[in-house]
Amino acid sequence: MDIKKMMRKEILNFQAYIPGKPIDEVKRELGIKGKITKLASNENSLGPAPEVVAAVKKAAADIFRYPEGASYLLRNAVAQALGITRQEVIFGSGSDEIIEMLGKVFFDRGDEIVVSEHAFIRYKMAGDLMGARVISVPMKDYKHDLSAMRAAVTDKTKAVFIANPNNPTGTYNTQKELEEFLESLPSGPMVVIDEAYYEYARVNKDYPDTVKLLKQFQNIVILRTFSKIYALAGLRAGYAVASSEIVECLDRIRPPFNVTLLSQAGALAALKYGKKQVKRSVAVVEAGKKYLYSELEKLGLPCVKSAGNFILINVEPARGKDVFQKLLKLGVIVRAMDEYNYPGFIRVTVGTAAENKIFIKALAKCPGA
Ligand SMILES: Cc1ncc(COP(=O)(O)O)c(C=O)c1O
Repeated sequence: MDIKKMMRKEILNFQAYIPGKPIDEVKRELGIKGKITKLASNENSLGPAPEVVAAVKKAAADIFRYPEGASYLLRNAVAQALGITRQEVIFGSGSDEIIEMLGKVFFDRGDEIVVSEHAFIRYKMAGDLMGARVISVPMKDYKHDLSAMRAAVTDKTKAVFIANPNNPTGTYNTQKELEEFLESLPSGPMVVIDEAYYEYARVNKDYPDTVKLLKQFQNIVILRTFSKIYALAGLRAGYAVASSEIVECLDRIRPPFNVTLLSQAGALAALKYGKKQVKRSVAVVEAGKKYLYSELEKLGLPCVKSAGNFILINVEPARGKDVFQKLLKLGVIVRAMDEYNYPGFIRVTVGTAAENKIFIKALAKCPGA
């Protein structure tokens, strides 16, 4: 059997996503017995609200049952919280699954999708997977250049992806910029606005209110997640808000039980009980960024000001992957940025005050960084 001949052409050179290194893997590989500080995947190390853990434990008694496939209660709860209908919400096993579902439903060979050069890589992967042409537009000051992205739109464009704020740069496009962009577009393409870090970013007054824009622009798809500020990355629950027509299309290919019973219980409890935890997390990350900016300046390392819970740091002339390795040996996991075409950078997640200190102490020990 020639497996290469059997594979779809698009998969032949397809590269798997590189996730942040898990703590146990680092312990195994480096034989480290002590504490590892993971600041690699933009998780929220404060953890979820206690009521969320209790709800997941309670739901565990029912795990012999399939969950409700359409995440009925969750959809209702999100719709109610956002003032929209349940037909305008769809849940995925993380927002990541929805990005892939968008590709599977809408992208084909000969289509184009427009992304920003250093944007979250899963959009490009969704295009590549389906054989669409991925048009990568350079950034301006580490930010999505919406005028240049508009200029890249053709009659073949199926979707434009905007990560707002973007991972890994942490930059965001303002309400005004986004509205101007949406108004300037022809009626064809959909605009996917990924707001994985929405709850952190909205402390900025000019951060867009995209749910309000839904009424005016039927072609937008907003992505949000419970993985980041709600600290439920391990559960896998994310959602899209879009017109009922788009949601109905996505629902056709949604795997039958894509959001687990535990995930639905946890996310529902997070919506109900998470307000305090969200508020506290924003405060910790705001204080953490202030501390890190000032310490990085003392170390002479430039960084990009972030609206998320992570910071992109320029370690040139060192290479990001060398600094990543050195930090790993010191028990701190960050991310090298080679796959984002930033070989001279690392990305660090803002942790607790104690974790941020550990990171800075370790970074100071990295000669050449
Ligand atoms: C911009 C952005 N979008 C989406 C995701 C995926 O999040 P999840 O699949 O955990 O909901 C991430 C995760 O890092 C992200 O940074």
